[in-house]
Amino acid sequence: DKIPLLFQPFQVKDLTLANRVVVAPMCMYSAKDGFMTNFHLAHLGSFAIHGAGLVIAEASAVEPRGRISPQDVGIWSDDHIHKLKEIADFIHSQGSKMGIQLAHAGRKASMDPPYSAPPKSEYWADDVVAPSGGEALKWDENFLAPRELSVEEIHQVIKAFGAAAVRATKAGLDTVEIHGAHGYLIHNFLSPVTNKRTDSYGGSLENRARFLLEVIKEVRENFPKEKPIFVRVSASDLVEDVIDGPSWDIEQTVKVAKWAKDAGVDVFHVSSGGNVAQQKINAFPGYQVPFAERVKKEVPGLYVAAVGIITSGQQAEEVLAQEKADLIAVARGFLRDPHFVLNAAKELNVKAKYSQQYERGRR
Ligand code: FNR
Repeated sequence: DKIPLLFQPFQVKDLTLANRVVVAPMCMYSAKDGFMTNFHLAHLGSFAIHGAGLVIAEASAVEPRGRISPQDVGIWSDDHIHKLKEIADFIHSQGSKMGIQLAHAGRKASMDPPYSAPPKSEYWADDVVAPSGGEALKWDENFLAPRELSVEEIHQVIKAFGAAAVRATKAGLDTVEIHGAHGYLIHNFLSPVTNKRTDSYGGSLENRARFLLEVIKEVRENFPKEKPIFVRVSASDLVEDVIDGPSWDIEQTVKVAKWAKDAGVDVFHVSSGGNVAQQKINAFPGYQVPFAERVKKEVPGLYVAAVGIITSGQQAEEVLAQEKADLIAVARGFLRDPHFVLNAAKELNVKAKYSQQYERGRR
């Protein structure tokens, strides 16, 4: 019998995944001063025990002010490497691979942490930076007004992404994912809704994409060349009919995906939305797959990961079989059901490789 695509190994550069199931990055708002804890070891480690091919750790800030909330994971200090390596070693011991999302929250860097929210004045969020600043460019009224980055500061942030890639290498991670989605800093640059600059980082698509492409170049130069790089993007601001004027859309995404591939990106991880509060998200099973498919069709040679309400083995297999994507990322599905991989395997009638300690659970 032919092995379902979902359970066939996947190789890109020197990274070989046991299957095509990826745990999508998910902020847990459980770090202190950027440090992962035993919560992260148990949380991320369990996905490996349960057979995910690749586990991508949550958005991790490349500089302290680039956190979404004070409880975000950070990768701005060499001190963060130790725990990250412990987690990576464990994940490897389970036959799985680990990536981390390199992030800067941009204009959304002043969110109250969801679990305990001290008044804003009592914590760090006083320097919220973005391509363009001012009251009119707040994400919403609960957020602080962003301040426009100078060109020199832009270069410093780019360097911070490169330094984070070095730390990821030292921690033994198999890949890094540059977070260009969901209304965070890179997306703020890409979208004309949030980028009002008139210098070389704003205006034309080339200029708005410059920041992302320079981040890619810096990360590529600072991450082992045999290891792949992922980029996550929102393929659209999802605001047509809602706001006047140009926004970010799939046409621009495809063009930038081509440039990103030429700059050394291996996998595009295609999400949507998050940059404009008035967005209209019409979420249904596989709702973002058509965006992934467009990128895959129009940028040959660039691997694509699909994400968004992919909840069963059958659904995932169809996406792969119809050549709409190369990898399937799942977020909430793994929170609801840690056995996602095993259940998908049952559905597809395949004996998935599973942690030996858990083998008896099959019977
Ligand atoms: C997320 N998501 C997310 N995305 C991202 O790029 N970086 C992140 O750190 C997070 N954090 C996060 C936390 C939690 C609790 C959830 C539920 C989601 C988005 C996530 O990766 C995914 O794209 C969406 O959840 C859609 O996929 P699912 O959940 O339908 O499989």
